[in-house]
Amino acid sequence: MTLQDTVTDGSGVTDDGGSGLKKDAQKAGARVGLTSDEIIINGGRPLRGRIEVRGAKNLAPKAMVASLLGKTPSILRNVPNVSDIRVVAGLLALHGVLITRGEDPGEWHFDPSNVEQAHHADIDAHAGSSRIPILFCGPLLHRLGEAFIPDLGGCRIGDRPIDFHLDALRRFGAVVEKLPSGISLTAPDGLTGASIELPYPSVGATEQVLLTAVLAKGQTELRNAAIEPEIIDLICILQKMGAIITVEPNRVIFIEGVDELRGYDHRAIFDRNEAASWASAALATRGDVFVGGAKQEEMMTFLNVFRKVGGDFDVHDDGIRFWHPGGELKPVTIETDVHPGFMTDWQQPLVVALTQAQGVSTIHETVYENRFGFTDALNKMGAEITVYTDGLHDEHRRVNRREFEQAAVISGPSRLTGAEIEVPDLRGGFSYLIAGLTAEGQTKVTNLGIISRGYENFIEKLRQLGADFIFES
Ligand code: EPU
Repeated sequence: MTLQDTVTDGSGVTDDGGSGLKKDAQKAGARVGLTSDEIIINGGRPLRGRIEVRGAKNLAPKAMVASLLGKTPSILRNVPNVSDIRVVAGLLALHGVLITRGEDPGEWHFDPSNVEQAHHADIDAHAGSSRIPILFCGPLLHRLGEAFIPDLGGCRIGDRPIDFHLDALRRFGAVVEKLPSGISLTAPDGLTGASIELPYPSVGATEQVLLTAVLAKGQTELRNAAIEPEIIDLICILQKMGAIITVEPNRVIFIEGVDELRGYDHRAIFDRNEAASWASAALATRGDVFVGGAKQEEMMTFLNVFRKVGGDFDVHDDGIRFWHPGGELKPVTIETDVHPGFMTDWQQPLVVALTQAQGVSTIHETVYENRFGFTDALNKMGAEITVYTDGLHDEHRRVNRREFEQAAVISGPSRLTGAEIEVPDLRGGFSYLIAGLTAEGQTKVTNLGIISRGYENFIEKLRQLGADFIFES
């Protein structure tokens, strides 16, 4: 199987899923000339049924990058079929990593025996809208003594700078040079362990330090580290490879550099952000969805909020069932935060459910400075959401206020009605699907491709849950 065979097109639909849906639409006489980047949703039908979530989009690409550090090949299992994987696979291939598929669905093999420097223009052309290329720095500096990263993309949810990454790399001894096309790094004297304190527990910067420190000479102490479950999973992978990493209390991670690492065999942790998104969809549509593969521990904070809003759930060995038990939903106040707080990636899908709650909910977004842009379209559909761009004073706050934060105040319940809306970013995009499913009438959602960055086969999953929609691949 080739690399292209393993990934979806921009819509996130596999060949089977797409053609099946197309047939449904044709059978119903519903061909309406949509592009493969558009969907028309007939709202008002509760989602019911079972879907599966696979490996986390926020772990798998990083695990793939970690394979660069091994002397022998690595095997990653449970890899989701999302477009971020295609970008990272392409970048690894450009750097000489041989990628093959295993027997099981989602099983990928990476052989880094012949790692080589890639051309800047090729890296630039391949990196697309992903932010993962920055994580190639440490491993490439170890393997080749140099690295190049193009201008980085990612969702439009704020400035998303990389200063923490570059500062940390400099502490290890990397020389950073800004070029018109990107950033070039070299390590003339090799990389040496360092004492680093992050200004904020950034997920990406913590991963950067881990991927660099494991092969650096000597010891690294990282303070104010992020400890998201996906980071702990990355640490497990690195430990399998031969690294010595200790997670200490109070966000301290201690890494003892080793001379060499081997390949790993690892099953990626489940995607808790996708699980929370489908749970919110069940709640907003008054439905009942079993999310196969979801686990309780990594979702505890979400589950508490889900229950407070009035949703119900049952934890099973093979997943979690989420449902709307009837009656009114209740408003909540939420502060997004780093783990173990309420993930920023959970707020957008939940906001749609909160438009259906009786009363006023408030969400303080403390991780990104611009993550409520998606609410304009919800207001167009009848929601009552006011965004306070400078945040809101609230003496009961638990999370320290950040300078740039925003707050959204959602008054409900609102009757949502169909509209034409364009996906702005990954999580906002999924929330638009939920809004369309919740609204009366037809909603046309455009720019669907972004959703396939993080939601595997979402069109097929909507079909499995009985959603009423037209999609022509
Ligand atoms: N930040 C800086 N400087 C840096 C790095 C980060 O100021 O050098 C700031 C960011 O601007 C942001 C905050 O720190 O305000 C947090 O950023 P972080 O580095 O933690 O985020 P990330 O690593 O870029 C990952 C996920 C995001 C998720 C965040 C927070 C991946 C590929 N992305 O981003 O996922 O929201 O952690 O948990 O793992 C998503 O899945 O939709 C998504 C955006």
